[in-house]
Amino acid sequence: MKAVEIKPDIYWVGAIDWKIRDFHGYSTYKGTTYNAFLIKDAKVTLVDTVKAPFFNQMIHHIKEIVEPYEVDYMVVNHVEMDHSGSFLQAVETFKPKKIFCSEMGKKALLQHFHSIDLPYEVVRTGDYVSTGKKTLHFIETRMLHWPDSMFTYIPEDKLLISSDAFGQHWATSARFDDEVPSDELMYHAAKYYANILLLYSPLVQKLLTKVKELNLDIDMIAPDHGLIWRKSPGKIIEAYDRWSRQEAKRKAIVVYDTMWHSTEKMANAISDGLIDEGIETLPMSLKVYHRSDIITELLDSKGLAIGSPTLNNGLFPTVADILTYMKGLKPLGKIGFAFGSYGWSGEAAGIISQYLSDMKVEQIIDQPFRIQYVPDHEALKKCYELGRKLGERIKEVV
Ligand code: FEO
Repeated sequence: MKAVEIKPDIYWVGAIDWKIRDFHGYSTYKGTTYNAFLIKDAKVTLVDTVKAPFFNQMIHHIKEIVEPYEVDYMVVNHVEMDHSGSFLQAVETFKPKKIFCSEMGKKALLQHFHSIDLPYEVVRTGDYVSTGKKTLHFIETRMLHWPDSMFTYIPEDKLLISSDAFGQHWATSARFDDEVPSDELMYHAAKYYANILLLYSPLVQKLLTKVKELNLDIDMIAPDHGLIWRKSPGKIIEAYDRWSRQEAKRKAIVVYDTMWHSTEKMANAISDGLIDEGIETLPMSLKVYHRSDIITELLDSKGLAIGSPTLNNGLFPTVADILTYMKGLKPLGKIGFAFGSYGWSGEAAGIISQYLSDMKVEQIIDQPFRIQYVPDHEALKKCYELGRKLGERIKEVV
């Protein structure tokens, strides 16, 4: 596809990665895009670049608008390799007179590319640069999600180029939010938030407050991944406010893996109890669900039950995986418990319970619930009652 003019003389010149399925542990089952933007003004400016293998796609788009030697400035909003992998190729091609980045951005660029003799211009929140008819305002967004991250805002066009924030991993032929089904777009945006930004939720709250204080007039948000918010920039800002407050609903997920179906039987009975309490419930077998899809469902779930059989005196490997991943993302305000089956030693449920404590999950039972070998009818009734108990507690607080 061709470059796309998103505002007068501002063009999407990025690349679509149709094939990527694993983005550092995140399941990108619909691919992604690396968005870069060219501003055609007295000083031609390229905001962000693309992942290294996609450099030629970006150059192809830029050549539809200007010759590469005409590019005067580059802006590096974020140094992670999916946006800066082609940085050196871009610098060699454009020979920019100035490269704008945050202080931490300059440090990260030096540590990535060891390129000391480049025309870096460090900018801070409140700094601005004229490109001719347009102005670039810089807003540092430190730790959202890297120390170097920043936004570039163009007031003449009410355009916020937001780096990773407000993005989605979704490769489509569409470039704008109004060209795709809204529910699917919001699902991809929620998945992106849950897996990339959840642990920085307190900082997202501070940033939203700062953006309000800056009184920015925004009618388009252009993230570095996925669709550009042309019709509903307010909708994604409102969603970020909700997600960063970790608002949850009467919903629970029951995450488990199983060796000989005992833990699975327990998970299903627990889910039945939750369902009968009127809780929206999703049993999530780790044989079926990817870790990033589990975190997506956890985003708006109040309830969280996790089960594992004991294997070699410890956790089943997939359960260890999801617990490590989940703990790192720092979900808050959940209610739940640990469960599992075992043969003789039975450590797994206790280890899960410790993870839940570390994540400050309110556990509704003092000890994790364990069944030896295969649960009988009475044991499954206890699982069902535990599901109901969790459901009752969820309804007390949501
Ligand atoms: Fe899309 Fe943090 O890189």
